Amino acid sequence: MSSRTTGSVTVTLDGTNRSASLPLLSGSLGPSVVDIRKLYNELGIFTYDPGYGATASCESRITYIDGDAGVLLYRGYPIEQLAEQSDFIEVAYLLMYGELPTKAQLAEFERGVTLHTMVHEQIRRFYDGFRRDAHPMAVMCGVVGAMSAFYHDSLDINDPEQRRIAAFRLVAKVPTIAAWAYKYALGQPFMYPRNDLKYAENFLYMLNAVPAEEYRVNPVLARAMDRILVLHADHEQNASTSTVRLAGSTGANPYACIAAGIAALWGPAHGGANEAVLKMLSEIGHPKNIPAFIEKVKDRNSNVKLMGFGHRVYKNFDPRAKIMQRTCHEVLAELGIKDEPLLDLAMELERIALSDDYFISRKLYPNVDFYSGIILKAMGIPTSMFTVIFAVARTVGWVSQWKEMIEDPSQRIGRPRQVYSGPTQRDYVPLGNRG
Ligand code: SDX
Repeated sequence: MSSRTTGSVTVTLDGTNRSASLPLLSGSLGPSVVDIRKLYNELGIFTYDPGYGATASCESRITYIDGDAGVLLYRGYPIEQLAEQSDFIEVAYLLMYGELPTKAQLAEFERGVTLHTMVHEQIRRFYDGFRRDAHPMAVMCGVVGAMSAFYHDSLDINDPEQRRIAAFRLVAKVPTIAAWAYKYALGQPFMYPRNDLKYAENFLYMLNAVPAEEYRVNPVLARAMDRILVLHADHEQNASTSTVRLAGSTGANPYACIAAGIAALWGPAHGGANEAVLKMLSEIGHPKNIPAFIEKVKDRNSNVKLMGFGHRVYKNFDPRAKIMQRTCHEVLAELGIKDEPLLDLAMELERIALSDDYFISRKLYPNVDFYSGIILKAMGIPTSMFTVIFAVARTVGWVSQWKEMIEDPSQRIGRPRQVYSGPTQRDYVPLGNRG
């Protein structure tokens, strides 16, 4: 990688004459990092950072976030420009290979993805093992993990060609697997992907078409879905990406690693927030109930959060939230939905929250999840599928970060340490002597 030593940090143990001089490493953007790899050997101490709020787990050249400025760059390109001028398949190429493709490279890459969208026919049988009312994220965890039971020719992570094939298979097949999870829940026949449709259009086709009649995807909705996929494609070392990297650092096969990422994304504090936002808005029900809800959020004992607000990194507007809000208005206009009560409620909730010192003082702003659910609901997609769509988009980010980690010569198995505060050593007491 290309970070360089730009100084040092000296750590001194108070009350002793012991200190360690640690290298200060700088990348191209963002804070420098102190390299603590020799800290334990020199001073016999660890660092402590539960939640890793101030800890860099790796060096990466894929995505950069400036949380204070509300900046998000994919390989240096601002998310606003990519959302407006690019599309998901081109962004997927950019994230995976680091540069915008030429016309020929893009055509070849898109063709390669298209030719991998079908899944092994026997994978269909996995769905029959689930209850019809299983959460589709549970199905995604199961079926994506089970891909390692089918694609034996792309499990050797040390073979670049097998890594490439696995990456294509994952990016290309997750929309099919996701759409089939939805169809299975509906009790409708699975729709096969079509090679004449583009990525987002194909996904909406497989979600909504039925064999009984022709189905044409609304191009405005296809564009909106494509933009949602672009906005969710990658985001530095978030919880699910860190899970993929940690799993990958053990040498686990890529399908297992992405299944682990899907599981981590499912949580309501992470990718499950979009589903939780819709539930929250439905529970609030009417703008007149907002003040009481805000009071509940401010009561620490209530454990109620304003879902879709706040972020570990963004202490300003999440740039994706602004684009999402604009897309929301476009989709509702296209669908002829004049007044969407949920959108009106969300905008009123945002207005009130952004004028309340509780949120201002904690730098809590809308994040990517605050508006995405309203768009998806307007597109007729059920809340249970919201996080699945996040997973479809984030798969290319997970695959790109996994690939970067495997190809990083300095990468080692991830194995955090701890500060232990349990019982000191003591002898076993036989059952008869325990009173
Ligand atoms: C995603 O990491 C990523 O990049 C994730 C993601 C991606 O693309 O991968 O961006 C996707 O996960 C977006 C976040 C979606 N989650 C939600 O919308 C759930 C609601 N948000 C919170 O749970 C919370 O904001 C987190 C989990 C997102 C961040 O948690 P942190 O970093 O622990 O929160 P914090 O340290 O910034 O909180 C500071 C204070 C605390 O209060 P005090 O202890 O100071 O009194 O703000 C409070 C928190 O309790 N707080 C909230 C709040 N978020 C933080 N209070 C009410 N509502 C909230 N949403």
